[in-house]
Amino acid sequence: MVKLKINGKIIEVKEETTILEAASKLGIQIPTLCNHEALSPYGSCRLCIVEVKRGGRSEITTSCNYLITKEIEVQTNSEKIIKYRQMIIQLLLGRCPDNPKLLELAKSLGVTSPIFQADPYDDCILCGRCVRACSEVVKVNAITFAGRGVSRRVEPPFGDYNDLCIACGACAFVCPTGAVQVQFDGTNKIIDKWEKVTPIVEVKNSGQHYMTEAQINYFKNSFNFTPNN
Ligand code: FES
Repeated sequence: MVKLKINGKIIEVKEETTILEAASKLGIQIPTLCNHEALSPYGSCRLCIVEVKRGGRSEITTSCNYLITKEIEVQTNSEKIIKYRQMIIQLLLGRCPDNPKLLELAKSLGVTSPIFQADPYDDCILCGRCVRACSEVVKVNAITFAGRGVSRRVEPPFGDYNDLCIACGACAFVCPTGAVQVQFDGTNKIIDKWEKVTPIVEVKNSGQHYMTEAQINYFKNSFNFTPNN
């Protein structure tokens, strides 16, 4: 066990607990975007930054992927952290200036209007939640990062719209900004972001009434289980 102090409160946690988890145990909220409890930490949005003091030295670091191994002192909302976090949300808003979820989060951090604006812009903040869900949870790797710098984007490998995607919608489920969305038109499941239109079939007694053929095959192959249709 390791002892640490967060915003003046002392807590003891198992070694390699993240600062974010330790703070949550104390009821201290740290804003996050790229982090998701079902996925490995990625540390891309930088919104969860905190100030860590150890041995007379201080550093600013992301709390979602900082593993506690030694006694430390953490400040989650010092003046410096608040200022840096406002700059970070400004940059994210610059990418997605009219995204309602980001605007709401920005407001809660004291930022009311974007001072930057990318051209063109969309709703993706490149947090990688969709990529990690597809790879770590569904394990089909149907999407990945491509490009560098301002051209960085998420798309199917090599931009090739192949059949890896089973249209499960896990990517949309974990997307924090709504950049990936699943729609139904009565006969198809549509994921616009990946240009994926997949016919659905009715599945009885499954608790989920419609699935794609690819999802049914996925269940058969992964769990040796056939949904009743
Ligand atoms: S939540 Fe920690 S970097 Fe995004």
